[in-house]
Amino acid sequence: MNYRHAFHAGNHADVLKHVTLLALCDALLAKPAPVFALDTHAGRGLYALAGDAARRTAEADDGIARLQASASAGSFAAPIERYLAALATCRAAHGADAYPGSPWLLAHALRDDDRIACCELQEEEAAALRHAFHFDPRVAVHRRDGYLAMKALLPPNVDGRRYARGLVLVDPPYEAQLAEFDTALAALKEGLARWPQGVFALWYPVKQRRTLQPFLRAAGKLATKAGSGLRIELLVRPDDSPLRMNGSGMLLLNPPWRIGAALAPALAQLHAVLAGPGAPPPLVETLA
Ligand SMILES: C[S@@+](CC[C@H](N)C(=O)[O-])C[C@H]1O[C@@H](n2cnc3c(N)ncnc32)[C@H](O)[C@@H]1O
Repeated sequence: MNYRHAFHAGNHADVLKHVTLLALCDALLAKPAPVFALDTHAGRGLYALAGDAARRTAEADDGIARLQASASAGSFAAPIERYLAALATCRAAHGADAYPGSPWLLAHALRDDDRIACCELQEEEAAALRHAFHFDPRVAVHRRDGYLAMKALLPPNVDGRRYARGLVLVDPPYEAQLAEFDTALAALKEGLARWPQGVFALWYPVKQRRTLQPFLRAAGKLATKAGSGLRIELLVRPDDSPLRMNGSGMLLLNPPWRIGAALAPALAQLHAVLAGPGAPPPLVETLA
């Protein structure tokens, strides 16, 4: 396993994923019942955009840095403003070049009574994650396979308390290329069977669109099984090259009510700021 998220932190895919993640958290927090969040592929939790890895690819320049450069107070739709406010809080605590990973955003958004389980397979990343959250009793870090955690950690039961509400973020590195789509879908199916009322969010890369068709068909069937589903995509280039990540998407199963309507204006603005010539318009599609 070679993937290190530090090379990609803050890129356009992170922007889409993290705007969506915060919107999902906020929708879940609309009710007082405690929430459980499982982050199956957590990464190290915090990144330094001025660090060697991030500067080597400079991917954040075309992601969060470009978004920030075009921001003026209150100019964006609520989900983007929410994300930028979380980023500002992260930077106030961890330095001007800090970028929050999904575990940090979950810990930031959720409440004292909520619980967060983060899985990370690489020892170095898991150690960094433990270090980042050693003070936070809500966050459990597991150095284990996040796909298998669907079976091991769902339905959630933390210290004898069961959680009816919550969310599972599945954010794999796709090092196994197309095979990873099948693994991720199988894990979602397992998770859904074990925790049917959970909100499930799978991030996926978009390279050449036609290779995604089998995944999209299977995703549609899974959404039907779940009872509701949504697919959102943000492309920054035409989706015709198999070599580059031309954009990315999120498959949402059991999405919170009206989350698509809340995200649509944000996606249009992200597209206006981050997409280059020829990029298809953003997508918000109801699957079931
Ligand atoms: C895309 S990164 C995660 C980024 C993170 N979710 C965020 O938004 O900040 C994927 C992470 O999954 C880890 N990983 C790869 N395969 C895994 C597996 N089967 N189970 C758990 N973690 C895995 C990698 O080491 C990497 O840190």
